[in-house]
Amino acid sequence: MFNTMNVPRIAASFALAAVLLAPGSAACDDIIPMQVRLAYAGPKGMIVSWNTYSQLERPMVQYGRSPDALIHEASSDVSVTYPTSTTYNNHVTLEHLEEDTLYYYLPEHSNATEPYTFRTSRRAGDKTPFTMAVVVDMGLMGPDGLSTRVGTGAANPLGPNDTNTIQSIEKHLDGIDFIWHPGDIAYADYWLKEEIQGYLPNTTIADGYKVYESLLNQFYDEITPLTSVKPYMVGPGNHEANCDNGGTTDKTHNISYTVDICMPGQTNFTGYINHFRMPSPQSGGLGNFWYSFDHGMVHYIQLDTETDLGHGLIAPDEPGGPEAEDAGPFSTLKDAQTNWLQKDLASVDRKKTPWVVVAGHRPWYVSASNRSSTICEECREVFEPLFLQYDVDLVLSGHVHVYERNSPVAKFNVDPKGLDNPSSPWYITNGAAGHYDGLDSLVYPLQQYNQYAQDTAYGWSRLTFHNCTHLTHDFVASRNGSVLDTATLYKNRKCVGENH
Ligand SMILES: *[C@@H]1O[C@H](CO)[C@@H](O)[C@H](O)[C@H]1NC(C)=O
Ligand SMILES: *[C@@H]1O[C@H](CO)[C@@H](O)[C@H](O)[C@H]1NC(C)=O
Ligand SMILES: *[C@@H]1O[C@H](CO)[C@@H](O)[C@H](O)[C@H]1NC(C)=O
Ligand SMILES: *[C@@H]1O[C@H](CO)[C@@H](O)[C@H](O)[C@H]1NC(C)=O
Ligand SMILES: *[C@@H]1O[C@H](CO)[C@@H](O)[C@H](O)[C@H]1NC(C)=O
Ligand SMILES: *[C@@H]1O[C@H](CO)[C@@H](O)[C@H](O)[C@H]1NC(C)=O
Ligand SMILES: *[C@@H]1O[C@H](CO)[C@@H](O)[C@H](O)[C@H]1NC(C)=O
Ligand SMILES: *[C@@H]1O[C@H](CO)[C@@H](O)[C@H](O)[C@H]1NC(C)=O
Ligand SMILES: [Fe+2]
Repeated sequence: MFNTMNVPRIAASFALAAVLLAPGSAACDDIIPMQVRLAYAGPKGMIVSWNTYSQLERPMVQYGRSPDALIHEASSDVSVTYPTSTTYNNHVTLEHLEEDTLYYYLPEHSNATEPYTFRTSRRAGDKTPFTMAVVVDMGLMGPDGLSTRVGTGAANPLGPNDTNTIQSIEKHLDGIDFIWHPGDIAYADYWLKEEIQGYLPNTTIADGYKVYESLLNQFYDEITPLTSVKPYMVGPGNHEANCDNGGTTDKTHNISYTVDICMPGQTNFTGYINHFRMPSPQSGGLGNFWYSFDHGMVHYIQLDTETDLGHGLIAPDEPGGPEAEDAGPFSTLKDAQTNWLQKDLASVDRKKTPWVVVAGHRPWYVSASNRSSTICEECREVFEPLFLQYDVDLVLSGHVHVYERNSPVAKFNVDPKGLDNPSSPWYITNGAAGHYDGLDSLVYPLQQYNQYAQDTAYGWSRLTFHNCTHLTHDFVASRNGSVLDTATLYKNRKCVGENH
């Protein structure tokens, strides 16, 4: 079933390294699916992705409307990897599905004891209330990531009996339609920082890629209970861009590491590009970088704040940008992202999807240190005019590891109407999902547009779309499920269309 002829020699030795690193995985299990994940692929599609140690010639998924009758099959020729990876990323798109319908599925060679399930998108225009989860800046949990201990100089360990964010979302899975993770996924590039801080055993720089890939694999396995049953929509963050956290300093030995230590395959969003398939073919976007999709009464837009801002600006992760990630750009066309955004926003049918929600990894309205690597003023310059022109309702971001709910704002001016039918977009930054060395500090005094802020508890965002006029955002504290902050946006508009 799988083709070892296509596996480069070098990949075979990396696979061996992976087996040595992860003693639990037996070499004969090399076509058993791991890291199973879903993503919406247009109104009638679902992308099923999974990893295997060996390349698959034709990755195949069986599916159906009943667990006992997986009578349909879909396959592809997409089983891809990159130089330092220990696995292959398999992607199969299921098409011509019924909307808003429960399906059962299994990737081929699965050892799962029963099929996984997914539910397709709600039809655009369906005004039935629903809830979804948003996390930004969520890393590996456990002994190699965020745990109850930290390394020297790191902060914010979990409390002894705390539920972490992955576990907290898992507890709430039944109530949410999907999970949106707009960047900073896994924090595998923290391997070097974790070693320098004495948290992980030291390797040589040359062997660092093994630790990096191990952290990535652990994270994707860890979130599989979530992503195998709920679509997991992702966006690019700076920690997807290279292997060394945008540069890391070992103060003890006076060594500054740069992207130069990263092996081929560990720069320029390579892992991220291989691992995911977001619905840009269906929305005219670009790869996993920018795209949009409809779900019920909401039009969702994922933007790329890391590269490709256009307008002659150097985006934060691009060569010469403040993050020193040396990545991108991904489009050769002038102003490709904002041209796409304009077209996408102009084509939204607000009768069908009255709500327009945008996420980009980086904030520009946030009470954080005013550094170009933290606050993305260039992002504001290129995106905000379009948000204002097209009445975007809500803008979500992370990157700063705090939770901050702001007022609706336009060009730094607080909307006088607050949440009561504002004409400016509402801004919420929630980068508090947690990862090794977890939270940042708010910078006081808080910005004048701030309404609520906290920098001590890990948590995730829960959005509930009640109807076409009311949208509630909750900050859920991961450790105990308490809602620490809740706010409801009201938009005065006439609701048309169906309600179930
Ligand atoms: C299925 O295979 C994976 C990957 O080898 C392994 O981690 C997991 O424990 C197996 N599960 C079962 C139920 O055997
Ligand atoms: C954690 O849970 C254990 C077992 O339930 C309990 O004995 C312990 O007191 C708890 N610790 C804290 C700090 O709550
Ligand atoms: C790894 O090296 C760093 C400095 O580069 C040092 O601080 C740390 O203690 C070392 N850790 C171990 C486990 O040897
Ligand atoms: C640290 O290294 C830099 C450049 O490599 C050097 O200029 C500096 O003097 C060194 N500092 C110490 C304290 O050794
Ligand atoms: C990153 O990849 C893109 C797409 O392949 C390429 O156009 C770009 O030049 C690369 N950037 C760097 C800095 O290597
Ligand atoms: C951040 O600093 C820059 C340069 O000092 C300044 O132009 C800009 O207005 C500041 N932004 C905020 C939000 O304070
Ligand atoms: C919309 O939902 C809100 C919150 O549940 C509710 O208060 C309001 O009455 C609803 N509006 C309509 C028209 O049903
Ligand atoms: C839940 O955890 C949060 C964050 O630490 C804390 O503020 C809150 O008091 C806790 N709630 C309960 C009911 O324990
Ligand atoms: Fe970030």
